[in-house]
Amino acid sequence: MIIEPMLQGAGGMIVWKKEFLAKARELCDRFDILLIADEVLTGFGRTGKMFACEHAAISPDIMCLSKALTAGYLPLGATLATEEIYEAFLSDDRAKTFFHGHSFTAHP
Ligand SMILES: Cc1ncc(COP(=O)(O)O)c(C=O)c1O
Repeated sequence: MIIEPMLQGAGGMIVWKKEFLAKARELCDRFDILLIADEVLTGFGRTGKMFACEHAAISPDIMCLSKALTAGYLPLGATLATEEIYEAFLSDDRAKTFFHGHSFTAHP
């Protein structure tokens, strides 16, 4: 399940309830589904907490970060993952690489 916690930016800056986020975590746990939090927009204090997930006191399995890492001065993104997920992608085999991109891709 991929979500923008607390604030759905692309959908029109829709703020939704922290209870929804907590329930999403619960459902993912129950059905063994990874919860991916896209905190590209909300990370680093933009919702009043360091990360929007903190409003519901939950941790995602994967967290995507970028914008506020450099405030646009440099193209940079980060993908944070639990140890279990990290281990699953840890290999010398390039085919197993956890490929990712960075933000501000057309940055001069
Ligand atoms: C919530 C969210 N996720 C992802 C992206 C895409 O970011 P990127 O430029 O790192 O691909 C954006 C871009 O504004 C965003 O607001």
